Amino acid sequence: MPLDHLFSPMPLGAITLDNRIIMAPLTRSRAGQPGDVPTSLNAEYYAQRASAGLIITEATQVSRQGQGYAWTPGIYTDAQEKGWKQVVEAVHAKGGKIALQLWHVGRISHHLLQANLQAPVGPSPIQAKNSFSFVIQPDGTPSNQPCDMPRAISSAEISGLIDDYVRSALRAQRAGFDLVEIHAANGYLLNQFLSPNSNQRTDQYGGNPENRARLLLEIVDAIALTIGANRIGVRLSPGGVFNDMDDPESEAMALYLAKELTLRGIAYLHIAEPDWAGGQPLSAEFRRDLRLAFPGRLIYCGGYTAEKAEAVIVAGIADAIAFGRLFLANPDLPERFLGNSHLNAPDQETFYGGGSKGYTDYPSL
Ligand code: PHB
Repeated sequence: MPLDHLFSPMPLGAITLDNRIIMAPLTRSRAGQPGDVPTSLNAEYYAQRASAGLIITEATQVSRQGQGYAWTPGIYTDAQEKGWKQVVEAVHAKGGKIALQLWHVGRISHHLLQANLQAPVGPSPIQAKNSFSFVIQPDGTPSNQPCDMPRAISSAEISGLIDDYVRSALRAQRAGFDLVEIHAANGYLLNQFLSPNSNQRTDQYGGNPENRARLLLEIVDAIALTIGANRIGVRLSPGGVFNDMDDPESEAMALYLAKELTLRGIAYLHIAEPDWAGGQPLSAEFRRDLRLAFPGRLIYCGGYTAEKAEAVIVAGIADAIAFGRLFLANPDLPERFLGNSHLNAPDQETFYGGGSKGYTDYPSL
């Protein structure tokens, strides 16, 4: 099967991609310690994958409060900004493009990760069930721990939260990133605000769908004023159940946001499909409705093959497809797709933490 569409260039906001094969954001938990600072090993890993049309980095916390797992990188200190600059330069030197994913985990955290052992914040004091944070115990042992009961972030704190996103976007721009992606998916803070099972606020950030969407849209607007809407992507996960999300109206929310984001002229909308975490697949009807609601660049992610990716682009449902596990295990994924070559299998044991094993040692052709 020809893959002409997957291999055609694509204008994306302020930039143009060489192809429509995108490296999905993947938590790899290998930031330098102390300080959660990107390292030369991280730069090597991303540079190996520079033939992607666009790399979207692993989720990167915008503040210490926004961290839910030990060893994930941040973008709120000078050292982290400098570490990311080295990553971006390595990717650009190989002709690649790269977006930084901006992340706040909200209630998917634990007091051992928070300043002064405080409770994490969320929209409301509702604990995420069957959800885990990754912490280093006081005796030095790393372990998964149930997420803590959050405290509700106050209305007065929200402007500071928006500032954290804006400052992080500015740092990303200084580090040389082509774009930023606002993570509003997978049960993290902005998704917690969108969903009525985690957001029971009675102020202007809770209640009806417009109110629940307000925080995300205010963050988009604030970052757009600073670096331009054409440098912003947004990631959503309608139908997602990861991290105790349960929202019977998440598709309607995604369609509302798609219209609002169209008005704002963002670079792209990125959909994490629910099935990776055990949710029901998105319906064909929803995909058609989303296409109509968002005429801009639409990226889907979730278990695609090259052939399936080509088919959905040909059908006009998607403009580009992001690949996670396949890119993790195949640094030269586009070349392999082009040659219909053998694909390395990802090794689950080395997904999170560790060094170069299962990170920079997957062979290229
Ligand atoms: C994770 O670290 O497990 C993780 C991070 C970001 C996501 C999904 C999962 O969007």
